[in-house]
Amino acid sequence: MRGIVGSIAGAVALIAVGAVGAKTKSPEIHALPSLREQSEIVDGWTEERKALIPGILRKYDIDAWLVSQREYAEDTTFWALKDFVQFSARRRTTQLFLASGPGNASTAYSWIDNTAQVWHELKAILADRQPRSIALNTHQELAFSGGLHAGERDAIAAALGQEWEDKFVLEPMLGIELIATMVDSRLGWYQKMMETAWAIIEEGFSSKVIVPNKTTTADVTWWMRERIQALNYTTWFQPGVYILTADDLDHDNPLNSPDHLIRYGDIIHTDFGVTALGLNTDTQHLAYVLRPGETRADIPQGFLEGLRKVNRLQDITRENMKIGVTGNDILKAILAQAHREGIEGKIYCHATGEFGHSAGTVIGMTNLQDGVPVLGDLPLLKNTYYSVELYAEHFVPEKNRTIIFPQEEDVYWNEPTGTWEWVYGQQTEFLLIQPPSSSFVADSPAEL
Ligand SMILES: *[C@@H]1O[C@H](CO)[C@@H](O)[C@H](O)[C@H]1NC(C)=O
Ligand SMILES: *[C@@H]1O[C@H](CO)[C@@H](O)[C@H](O)[C@H]1NC(C)=O
Ligand SMILES: *[C@@H]1O[C@H](CO)[C@@H](O)[C@H](O)[C@H]1NC(C)=O
Ligand SMILES: *[C@@H]1O[C@H](CO)[C@@H](O)[C@H](O)[C@H]1NC(C)=O
Repeated sequence: MRGIVGSIAGAVALIAVGAVGAKTKSPEIHALPSLREQSEIVDGWTEERKALIPGILRKYDIDAWLVSQREYAEDTTFWALKDFVQFSARRRTTQLFLASGPGNASTAYSWIDNTAQVWHELKAILADRQPRSIALNTHQELAFSGGLHAGERDAIAAALGQEWEDKFVLEPMLGIELIATMVDSRLGWYQKMMETAWAIIEEGFSSKVIVPNKTTTADVTWWMRERIQALNYTTWFQPGVYILTADDLDHDNPLNSPDHLIRYGDIIHTDFGVTALGLNTDTQHLAYVLRPGETRADIPQGFLEGLRKVNRLQDITRENMKIGVTGNDILKAILAQAHREGIEGKIYCHATGEFGHSAGTVIGMTNLQDGVPVLGDLPLLKNTYYSVELYAEHFVPEKNRTIIFPQEEDVYWNEPTGTWEWVYGQQTEFLLIQPPSSSFVADSPAEL
């Protein structure tokens, strides 16, 4: 199928130029810097983040934080602390962070070793600095505060002895806050990545890639994967392409989405993200497949109202995301306001950035609309990125049935205004799939 799509692409692009030119600003693809430059950029962000650790320890009244792992059995926090040129832990990789030191004494130590020397040196530092508490990442539910492997914990306890084992504590917010916090200097590139994700969706959801009644949802999915790779980006989940008017979206099992032919009059939907520079994006957009002869003015009114409704739900969600409030209380507030405004739907927002589903409270899950145990009890942190992910239900008279309208956009915390802002924007208009002009319906010599 890719052959068919490709052969038509060149010719249709000629038509698309006029249409795009008439519109206001379209999202653009941003090429990544060279790997060497990426290394400098990303390591700069990591250093800024590491500098926050003593403050995070003091905030939670913890004196010391010990992170230790062996090659290929990394603690989750390893990925937020590593240098760009590190691809895994090596040997035993051990890091000790301290809340403060006398005078200019260091607050961070690290070892890469496979002898008992690491324990001798670690014990000497502990003896010197006398921390009252040593936090270990041993949480039973939270991945970002529970990455210490069981065998590694045993090895630490055996090597340090009872005196220090008695000081072991668990403070889940250390790992959460370290990974969740997005230093300001990351935002510029995050916005470029988000714009790139929008641009790839716009390209994929256009007549360049989709020929109604020929192209299937799987064709578009794999086109997206190839496009990401050609741009030297990668991704953190298989893109999803669904036909909402055919009820393709199975939230409990998105990997099971059927491969469907894209037809005239369909609403198609994508769940799409890109990865680069140690950052991940998450976006869901909608397109309408125009019938021959139709224009934007012919999109059924019920579809437009569904999109307006989900746009309103996005704003209700963003405005209710109050710092310090738990995800579960935010979820209740959003749903209460939505119901007051006559909107039915589901809310399932998550932190994003360092990981696609990153550290921080969650605001609902598709199967948990009354609250999410453990994760939903965490407070919402500022200086983070969130994916505002949700859907609104809308009865579409033209189809005589209720259709779900999903949207997903990433937001960042804007400290000066105290608000969550869209990283790139909000989709307020359907993307349009133009029907092929009659000259391109048959196999065309477009490759020439
Ligand atoms: C701490 O560092 C500053 C600046 O580098 C230096 O002037 C000062 O002497 C140092 N203090 C101690 C106790 O080492
Ligand atoms: C879709 O394709 C089928 C099979 O090629 C054809 O019979 C049908 O007329 C097409 N439908 C439209 C709306 O073009
Ligand atoms: C992708 O990487 C290759 C190899 O470094 C380079 O030649 C190419 O220009 C890059 N493409 C983009 C779109 O950045
Ligand atoms: C709309 O759907 C309802 C329930 O499925 C059905 O009873 C009704 O006949 C339908 N109306 C039309 C105009 O098709």
